[in-house]
Amino acid sequence: MEFQNTPKVELHLHIEGAMPSEFARRLADEKNISLEGVFDESGGYAYRDFWHFLEVYEAATQVLTGPEEFARLTKAVLEQSAEQGVIYTEAFISPDFCGGGDVGAWKEYLAAITQAASEAERDHGIKSRGIATPIRHFGPEKAKAAALCAAETVGDFITGLGIGGDEKAGKLADFAWSFDCAREAGLQLTAHAGEWGGPESVRDALTLNVERIGHGVRAIEDPALVKELVARQVTLEVCPGSNVFLGVYPRLEDHPITRLMDAGVNCTVSTDDPPFFHTTMTKEYQDLARVFRFDEQVFSELNRAAAKAAFCDEDTRADIL
Ligand code: ADE
Ligand code: ZN
Repeated sequence: MEFQNTPKVELHLHIEGAMPSEFARRLADEKNISLEGVFDESGGYAYRDFWHFLEVYEAATQVLTGPEEFARLTKAVLEQSAEQGVIYTEAFISPDFCGGGDVGAWKEYLAAITQAASEAERDHGIKSRGIATPIRHFGPEKAKAAALCAAETVGDFITGLGIGGDEKAGKLADFAWSFDCAREAGLQLTAHAGEWGGPESVRDALTLNVERIGHGVRAIEDPALVKELVARQVTLEVCPGSNVFLGVYPRLEDHPITRLMDAGVNCTVSTDDPPFFHTTMTKEYQDLARVFRFDEQVFSELNRAAAKAAFCDEDTRADIL
């Protein structure tokens, strides 16, 4: 398949959102958990819009009842990514779904996930890191607990803090404590912004001193902000298929990725939540090649940008560059 073997660096993948629907169904059956309303008649995830997507996403995480389930998920997801030519991936992992923000429980989940990640590297050659991810609509107090979990486990695997969830919920400034705590602990920072919110939301993210922004694409609506992203060398984790599937843009043709790149913004390409958006990294590349004529040279530049912006040590960066 075209571009399947092109080496890929992915910076924006939610581990729970990467759970194949068959995997969720199997675990639900094993554990007698009802996932009513989560699947459509053909067995895929079913939702009406972004906000309903967040509800279905959270409902599906019910099957991830402990460290063992997260380990199984991590292995399945990394194996699938490796099949798509991904050589390095960063997974958003929410302490809220891994022990509810309790540090002791989080450490147990993380030990299982880290073990699975190192087995995936051994078996499939894929390297990975984790970004602890508070969920914005769970509020600043839960985010503090998540940041404290992250700060307690800074190391070989957890290298960043990110925030996902409903970009319209609350103000990012209310999460400053969590971001400061993470930075002081040595973590690098990213925040979802400029997906559902406009340029003002991206500006809010910049006040948290993030190195990267999840999506960030709606910065294109404000030329001064685009210049600021270039000047500050902020990297955007662009997820074109996700943006089109969820309706941020009606068609890939309308997506601003090429305009952002032409303006000099560091752009990278990721899938976000592949089974929810019926995508893979290979499909993202094929679609970009079809619509914008991206070729191996452009993908190589995008991957270099991703490797440079990866939240990893210099030896790992040298390996994936
Ligand atoms: N969590 C999982 N996918 C997300 C997205 N696209 N935006 C915000 N939060 C998310
Ligand atoms: Zn995301």
